[in-house]
Amino acid sequence: MEQKTKIKGKVHYVGVNDRTKHLFEGLWPLPYGVSYNSYLIDDEKVALVDTVDICYFEVFLHKIRSVIGDRPIDYLIINHMEPDHSGSLSLIKQHYPNIIIVGNKQTFGMVEGFYGITGEQYLIANGDSLDLGYHKLTFYLTPMVHWPETMMTFDETEGIIFSGDGFGAFGTLDGGFMDTRLNTDIFWQEMIRYYSNIVGKYGSAVQKALEKLAPLSITTICSTHGPVWIEQKDRVIDIYDRMSRYEGEEGVVIVYGTMYGNTEQMAEAIALELSVQGIKNIVLHNVNKRHPSYIIADIFKYKGLIIGSATYCNELYPEIDSLLSKILTRDMKNRYLGYFGSFCWSSAALRHMHTFAEKSKFELVGIPVDMKISMSDQTYDECEALGLAMAERLKQDR
Ligand code: FEO
Repeated sequence: MEQKTKIKGKVHYVGVNDRTKHLFEGLWPLPYGVSYNSYLIDDEKVALVDTVDICYFEVFLHKIRSVIGDRPIDYLIINHMEPDHSGSLSLIKQHYPNIIIVGNKQTFGMVEGFYGITGEQYLIANGDSLDLGYHKLTFYLTPMVHWPETMMTFDETEGIIFSGDGFGAFGTLDGGFMDTRLNTDIFWQEMIRYYSNIVGKYGSAVQKALEKLAPLSITTICSTHGPVWIEQKDRVIDIYDRMSRYEGEEGVVIVYGTMYGNTEQMAEAIALELSVQGIKNIVLHNVNKRHPSYIIADIFKYKGLIIGSATYCNELYPEIDSLLSKILTRDMKNRYLGYFGSFCWSSAALRHMHTFAEKSKFELVGIPVDMKISMSDQTYDECEALGLAMAERLKQDR
């Protein structure tokens, strides 16, 4: 059993899979589940890196004991305090009462706040080290990837970065936990969705973390979610680098809120013109049907964004309103924005879209289209013109 959990050196995988929860953070769908990764370093001194969601404590404890038997754990290194990782902290402390918690100044306030735990602490600052015997660990503070206390732990001996949420992805680890033993196909899209949904607001913090990691000789990424990355670690770092710079691929997300399909016809007209103009990556999302988790992921993926809304109670269509709030929350940058609206007796959606456009600071492309009641030849021409303007803007970047 011990060898089957081994990653490198004396480092073992002791994480768990969650195929039960429907919504991560109560918000984000988990069609492929999610893993909560924890790592056990079975050295002269034993160290546990993060814990798991409390629902899986018994499985977790069994995995720990299968590696170290009755040996005590000397250190619990907390890279991140969000309860999907710290949830088992109290129970670990009950089973290993002499364990020393390793964290930074921000960590310990949360340890006490969430779990009422005080006692012996190993307080680290950026660049501090911990020698376990074979493995020599160095700590890097990476605040806001994804909370203020987040840090990463680098194993100098084997080049392993224990990266917390950094480089994470949704999706359970079915069978193998290392990319060398897994079909990783699902994880690329689930990585974009995870990043955009969970960490997406903190692009500049991720960029600062990447700068800190750049001088390190990383062989292996041990994140708290998703596979252990060895063979494909460079691709993972590149994805996180591009997403945290808000760099999009050529393509357009057209997202619209419609009640009876008239506003949808505007989206179709715009999309057809984009296609005629040579843009191949076009994704239409009916906001009623598609969960915002997936829409946000596509907005992170593509440079072009066109949003349409029917007028509803003299406001935006409610689900579009909610989506705009999620976009602004993530402080997204570097997008080309077009928009359109519709109304039956009083135009309001377009006015609210204009307010959003100003707040977003996105580059406005084309002339916004407002439609009264249903599609006319003139409205169709205006939609085509909007599609054409977006296509031309995207093609300037080729
Ligand atoms: Fe996976 Fe920010 O917790």
